[in-house]
Amino acid sequence: MTRKRVGVLISGRGSNLQALIDATQAPGYPAEIVLVISNVPGAQGLARAEAAGIPTRTINHKDFASREAFDAALTAALEDAGVELLCNAGFMRLHSEGFVRHWWNRHLNIHPSLLPAFKGLRTHARVLEEGAQLTGCTVHFVRPELDSGPIVGQAEVPVLDGDTPESLAARVLAAEHRLYPHALRLVASGAVRWRTKP
Ligand code: GRF
Repeated sequence: MTRKRVGVLISGRGSNLQALIDATQAPGYPAEIVLVISNVPGAQGLARAEAAGIPTRTINHKDFASREAFDAALTAALEDAGVELLCNAGFMRLHSEGFVRHWWNRHLNIHPSLLPAFKGLRTHARVLEEGAQLTGCTVHFVRPELDSGPIVGQAEVPVLDGDTPESLAARVLAAEHRLYPHALRLVASGAVRWRTKP
């Protein structure tokens, strides 16, 4: 079995990265993580990758004059590492359209809601403000519009009486950690493909 070479983009805690690391270490998993890039120096996720023996790079967006120049540096590092599939895992930068088109159908993101509901930030607070009784998480192919694109998988999570944004976030995060490895397996194995042109 040839395993797909995966790059992961992070900005922080990296708990979804950890779920992917754990999954890819299982025998027979159809992907391996070959590079983790953080745009934030010292992000906790970098230590998780290092502990697993995965190469890391810090590419700080503040060191670049434009979004396009930052994205070009990301692509250069990913291609140097032979990355075939890219996973955003709590990566908090918008991508340029050129970057999205370059990685078209090879690029996944996880978002903590049942898309297309509750795109963007403050997700869990807005779910509670709206009085929704059901939320969840979504893994989707990345498209130029934020938190949009063909959906690979979703997991439902109930909203419970007395939930706070923090308690709801923790319940959704546990579902994210199950969903992302499953969705990556589907895409890396070729069971799920999206073939429209950019
Ligand atoms: C997750 O809730 C993810 O869905 C969102 O940002 C959070 C990242 O958490 N995009 P972590 O860095 O994976 O722990």
